[in-house]
Amino acid sequence: MPRFLLSIESTCDETAAAVIRDDLHVMHSVVSSQTALHEQYGGVVPEIAARAHLERILPVIDQALQGAGISLTDLSAVAVAAHPGLVGSLLVGVTAAKTLSLVHEIPLIAIDHIQAHLFACQMVSTKPVFPAVGLVVSGGHTNLYDCRSSVEMQLLGSTIDDAAGEAFDKVATILGLPYPGGPSIQKAGQLGNPKAYSFPRAFIHDDRLAFSFSGLKTALLYEVQGQPGARNQPPEMTPQRLANIAASFEQAVVDVLITKCEQALKQTGYQSLCIGGGVAANARFRKAIEDLRQRCSIEAIIAPLEYCTDNAAMGAIAWELFQRKQFATLDLDPTPGLVRAV
Ligand code: KG4
Ligand code: ZN
Repeated sequence: MPRFLLSIESTCDETAAAVIRDDLHVMHSVVSSQTALHEQYGGVVPEIAARAHLERILPVIDQALQGAGISLTDLSAVAVAAHPGLVGSLLVGVTAAKTLSLVHEIPLIAIDHIQAHLFACQMVSTKPVFPAVGLVVSGGHTNLYDCRSSVEMQLLGSTIDDAAGEAFDKVATILGLPYPGGPSIQKAGQLGNPKAYSFPRAFIHDDRLAFSFSGLKTALLYEVQGQPGARNQPPEMTPQRLANIAASFEQAVVDVLITKCEQALKQTGYQSLCIGGGVAANARFRKAIEDLRQRCSIEAIIAPLEYCTDNAAMGAIAWELFQRKQFATLDLDPTPGLVRAV
């Protein structure tokens, strides 16, 4: 008899639920995006996100179960992303999962959202993945990991300021493009020349596995609005200039991410690279990873497009925790920051 697990995700601004079979097959996955609520602010407003999760969580869970053709009594476990994330948002998912666990007397599993982003790679790979370098590149994180297994990861380095996705979102606001910035910059830059502007690439000639995107953001701001105190006005923002700036910005982010992945592979001696998170959906980045895979003869697995941005299907990692009997108790609290070795 197949067993089913309900996975719940509410770490940031997507309310999501998925039913996943014990062979990791995703029976049904539902993502209710809050983009329309946060668009006017150019980023996620935590209080609005928490309230929207509260309104949506039960209908989203119902839809996931209905789509999978099962009911709550068919579940063998309930899993929830309990860290890291916005505390008000996390609280909604965690409370829903704890309630289902209590009422239906099924195990509760606490998922790490970062590990889940990387697990999305394993959902498409038939080959052994570990040991591997893991890159989680999203709106909240730009982190490199030494991954021994899907649940044993050590942080190798991270950003000292903005996350890459955050830089995409802020730069979109500067360029007058809609939120979320990643997809709109990708679209704007499609026909642009990625070499038109040479934006800064922080730490690129440095062995440290660190990232910084705030200087890049400021350089772009000065390119668009002019240097403070400069006598000359910046050139008019034509569609071609916008396309060139967007493409050049994307290229700068991509160059840094690729270089740091290469350095991490060299430093660990690993042959395998896993990449997840919202920015991993970027077409220019995906192409660059494909080039890296061929150039360095490494195994590079990037999360499938549909599982790059936040979703509950990547909560399939809960089956690994289920097998290890790593269950949470009903006093589970959400943790906003990074947890333990992850
Ligand atoms: O993983 P995610 O959904 O949420 C977090 O865990 O943070 O990532 C959201 C981020 C946003 O900053 C968004 O602008 C970015 O991922 N993103 C992209 C693309 N699609 C989403 N960035 C670049 N190119 C994309 N196509
Ligand atoms: Zn995420």
